[in-house]
Amino acid sequence: MSTYETLAKTVHIDGKNRLISYGDALEHIGTGRSAFVFRIQSSGKAIKIFFPAYSHIAKEEAAIYKILQDIPYYPAIYESGLNYIVMDYIEGLTLFERLSKGKIITKAHIKEIDHALSLAAERGLNPSDIHLRNIFLTDTDEIMIIDVARFRQMKDCRQWMNLKKAYDQLYTKCFFPKKVSSHFLNILAFLYKKGWIPSYRA
Ligand SMILES: Nc1ncnc2c1ncn2[C@@H]1O[C@H](COP(=O)(O)OP(=O)(O)OP(=O)(O)O)[C@@H](O)[C@H]1O
Ligand SMILES: [Mg+2]
Repeated sequence: MSTYETLAKTVHIDGKNRLISYGDALEHIGTGRSAFVFRIQSSGKAIKIFFPAYSHIAKEEAAIYKILQDIPYYPAIYESGLNYIVMDYIEGLTLFERLSKGKIITKAHIKEIDHALSLAAERGLNPSDIHLRNIFLTDTDEIMIIDVARFRQMKDCRQWMNLKKAYDQLYTKCFFPKKVSSHFLNILAFLYKKGWIPSYRA
C-alpha cells in the first residue's frame, strides 16, 4: 500500500458525507460538493478524498489532470487511487475568498483565467464548473484552476461566461462594493443555480 493510500485510509466520512475523523498528518483545508481536501503536512501536496458516493470521480479527474499536466495553470498530480487524488497544494486564495476579503480582482486576472481555460480547450477539453471556489490566485499572483472533473462533459457550461459578464457589468463599476460577504455570495450562487437571476441563465 502506498503512503498516500495509507493517508487516504485515515479519512472517515459517514453516509451523510460528514467528515468523522482524519489522521494527524492531514490538515483539512477545503470542502466541496463531492470531496474533502487536506494538506499533507510537511509537504507541498494536497489530497482530495471523494465522498463514498462520488469516489468514481477520482479516476476521471486524475485522467483530466494528466491531459493538463504541463500547463502551469493546473496543479500537478502525483497519484490517484480508488477514492483520492494527490496534487500540488496551492498557496493562495480562491476568488470567492478574495471577494469576501475585499481583495481586488483585476482585468488582467480575468484575461489570464480566459487564457488558462483556452489552453484546456486546445487539448480537446470543455472547461466546465468554473466557479469562484475553483479558481485561485496564488500568493505570487498567479492563476491556478482546480476541480477539473467536469472538463470532459459535452454539455455547454455558461458559468465562466456569466462570471465574466458580472465582472464587466457589475464588479468594475464604482457603485459595486469590492468586498462582498461570503453569505451574500452563497445566496447569489444559490439564485444563479436556480436560474432566478434574469439575464444570467445557467
Ligand atoms: N490543491 C489545492 N490546494 C489548496 N486548496 C485546495 C486544493 N484543492 C482544493 N482546495 C480547496 O478545497 C475546496 C474543495 O475542493 P474541490 O473544488 O476540488 O472539491 P469539489 O467537491 O470537487 O468541489 P465542487 O463543489 O466545486 O464540485 C476548494 O474550493 C479549495 O478551497
Ligand atoms: Mg470545487
